[in-house]
Amino acid sequence: MYQVCPSILAADFNRLGEQIHTLEEAGIKMLHIDVMDGFFVPSISFGMPVIESIRKESGLFFDCHLMVTAPERYIEEFVRCGADSITVHAEACEDLESVMKQIRAAGVKVGVSIKPSTPVSAVAHLLKDMDLLLIMTVEPGFGGQKYIESSTDKIREARAIVEKEGLKTNIQVDGGINDATIETVLRAGANLLVMGSGVFRGDLVENVEKYNKRIQEITE
Ligand code: DX5
Ligand code: ZN
Repeated sequence: MYQVCPSILAADFNRLGEQIHTLEEAGIKMLHIDVMDGFFVPSISFGMPVIESIRKESGLFFDCHLMVTAPERYIEEFVRCGADSITVHAEACEDLESVMKQIRAAGVKVGVSIKPSTPVSAVAHLLKDMDLLLIMTVEPGFGGQKYIESSTDKIREARAIVEKEGLKTNIQVDGGINDATIETVLRAGANLLVMGSGVFRGDLVENVEKYNKRIQEITE
């Protein structure tokens, strides 16, 4: 139920395949893949060819976070390249519900993300149709930023709705998750923790072990 989801945005792209293999050996199940279009967010990261290429070598669950305007243009193609879940931004879709249906019809898990300024109430009515709600805990666009404190209440609010309605929706957090913030987000109710610098800075295996241990200690 609780998982560290390493974000390959922070990987050493010169050794991407090797690092993904190392994570797999360390017991990671879910890989977070940040796709940026230079329009929804200021930066451009990578897209289909990279996903298609790493898919050939990895059996991990590919959790694709699309920071892309009008993502409905690309859903089927990301699935073809190897996505196992597709997360779209509520702010990037004119008709979010129809994009969610499109993702479901394409045969993968459905994720919805909200930026720090978007309230949980904007998507609460759709929680039952999501496999994951991604609460951005920094402004999307760049790795290595500082956790935005007001995110904690949003995590609590989303977790409360999930519990109250008896849903299975995962609550994922992304941005600034590290030694200093992991306990806060777990206690607030997050269960999928995206980590870029937290995992890729330093020794990957040691970092994964450290965070898995922290999760166990905090949630037992
Ligand atoms: C930010 C991305 C994140 C980012 C997290 O737009 O969605 O996944 O890589 O990086 P850290 O963990 O370094 O804040
Ligand atoms: Zn992300």
